[in-house]
Amino acid sequence: METKPLKTIIVGGGHRSLTYAQLAEIEKDKMEIVGVADPDENRRSSIAKQFNIPPERCFKTAQELALAPKFADAVINGTMDHIHVETTIPLLKAGYDVLLEKPFSVNEEQARSLVDAANKYGRKIMVCFVLRYAPFYRKIKDIILSGEIGRIISIQTNEYVSYHHMSTSHVRGKWNNFEKCHSSMLLAKCCHDLDIMMWLMSETKPSLVSSFGCNMQFRPENAPKKSGTRCLIDCPLSEECLYSAKRLYIDHPDRWSFYVWDALESIENPTIEDKIELLKTSPYGVCAYKSDNNVVDHQTVNVLFESGATGTHNMIGGTSRGTRTIFITGTKGTIEGDFEEGKFTLSKIDPRPDCEHEDTVFDLKIDNDTHGGGDLDLVRDFVAYARGEETSVSCTSINDSLLGHLVVFLADKSRENDGIPEKVII
Ligand SMILES: NC(=O)c1ccc[n+]([C@@H]2O[C@H](COP(=O)([O-])OP(=O)(O)OC[C@H]3O[C@@H](n4cnc5c(N)ncnc54)[C@H](O)[C@@H]3O)[C@@H](O)[C@H]2O)c1
Repeated sequence: METKPLKTIIVGGGHRSLTYAQLAEIEKDKMEIVGVADPDENRRSSIAKQFNIPPERCFKTAQELALAPKFADAVINGTMDHIHVETTIPLLKAGYDVLLEKPFSVNEEQARSLVDAANKYGRKIMVCFVLRYAPFYRKIKDIILSGEIGRIISIQTNEYVSYHHMSTSHVRGKWNNFEKCHSSMLLAKCCHDLDIMMWLMSETKPSLVSSFGCNMQFRPENAPKKSGTRCLIDCPLSEECLYSAKRLYIDHPDRWSFYVWDALESIENPTIEDKIELLKTSPYGVCAYKSDNNVVDHQTVNVLFESGATGTHNMIGGTSRGTRTIFITGTKGTIEGDFEEGKFTLSKIDPRPDCEHEDTVFDLKIDNDTHGGGDLDLVRDFVAYARGEETSVSCTSINDSLLGHLVVFLADKSRENDGIPEKVII
């Protein structure tokens, strides 16, 4: 087995790339960070310092890196959603394998062009569907593969996006406006869930998709009476409103506020005063009911599979507690669980005298990881994939990741057409 670390370049040195790059610090035999590409000078130089990267291996953009002679095996592409395809294709052409953030494209045409490019240049792309690596979903996959619940009749998944996550990412933040981020709410938030659904249902294929959804809550007509336009400037309700930027980001700095403070990265130790000043002008300080958001706050997706099985996914934004839940019904039993609790129950039909069903509870809680323990296992699998070694059952190669994205694109098309079903053409 090869022991040399995979020489890897960080492309887009933001939150996600740095999470994956941690592997290079924890398991030095697996990965070594040898270059960086990012137009943000602060981020570029701090990554160069962290990983000891010489100036000739620091680039302003992915495109500039692709023009330089190849000096590594792979890249981690953690740029924003709408530039994933345009930044990845030149890197594939330059000979790099790519660990690429989700969503890997923002429309079907781009998705197919990326799959074609990977095949044309004979390169590997792995998509960061980290949930497939979370012990919770991996165990569920193992149980389905073992046949214990029989053939699947129905799969129901739900994502509850907490009120603070919703407000930060999808009402005020980076994914709040389709024209700016080019991702729908379903694509940005639930391409994971529809990927999980397709992965767990791999015994069959989806054939029809329909969807409903809208922005019901975060609209100007729902703003509390007497509210202003900015929480820290002209709003008398900043101590009582559920979505007050003061209450969310100043009083509780641990609630998704890392996105909010990106704009202060160049200051070494920002003070509360710096933060308050920022909120007076940043999008995160705008009234949650009067922002420029135009994505849905809840959406439901129905899938009919070729086997006759049905799937439903609900995304509901603005809940008191964020989590994902799952309920799978097979011909021999069910699986029912809550991702944030890290627990699910396998319940098998048991018609013996004095029995009805036999239940087993699986407790797979993992702390300190926003994806239930999936982040670093995904990178370990990427290293194995790039080296040509055996990968896990979770492996998210680009070919294997396309189906979930197609279902998302069709669901959004159906939602825009009052729920008329769309045919899945693979
Ligand atoms: N897998 C997950 O569960 C998960 C979770 C959150 C976010 N994401 C996804 O991760 C991606 C990155 O999110 P983030 O919050 O880390 O983003 P970020 O904004 O913190 O980082 C993106 C970086 O890309 C850089 N960049 C822009 N253009 C570039 C170019 N041409 N070449 C190189 N770099 C360029 C930016 O300067 C920035 O530093 C997004 O697509 C997001 O949807 C995935």
